[in-house]
Amino acid sequence: MGFFSKDIQTMDDLFVHTLRDIYYAEKRILKALPEMIEKASDPTLKAGFRQHLQETEQHVLRVEEVFRMHGAEAKTVTCPAIDGIISETEEISGEIADTEVLDAALAAAAQAVEHYEITRYGTLIAWARQLGRTDCAGVLQRNLDEEKATDAKLTKLAESKLNMRAAS
Ligand SMILES: [Fe+2]
Ligand SMILES: [Fe+2]
Repeated sequence: MGFFSKDIQTMDDLFVHTLRDIYYAEKRILKALPEMIEKASDPTLKAGFRQHLQETEQHVLRVEEVFRMHGAEAKTVTCPAIDGIISETEEISGEIADTEVLDAALAAAAQAVEHYEITRYGTLIAWARQLGRTDCAGVLQRNLDEEKATDAKLTKLAESKLNMRAAS
């Protein structure tokens, strides 16, 4: 973005900009997940992260599909929000020695990531519909559904097992 011009003029520009933000975020998450898989001890948490890594690969491809459908160049814009969430995850997990406390922290950190994705996809879907791009909204909805399902699975796992073990 230039100093002398405002690059986002229209709702369509805003949609494409936000698509580039989530494209950056998905790629950043793709790089962060292998470390989270490695650090997790609980087998269900580990397996859940592994499954979400595969889903995240699809998320990147679906966002690229939306760029193509909308005739916009697939490129990223730095998203300081996801950088912050991920660096906080790395920081906190570096400070925890107890594996069960670490699992509870990793689940919570992953939920912060999911919630960020959920807010972005929710907005993108609403904007796509407003712009008459229900086709794009449909593809984005598939990503949103998987983010929500992951978030719900993490809540269930944390509340039924991880938090209790971390506290004992
Ligand atoms: Fe995602
Ligand atoms: Fe996700």
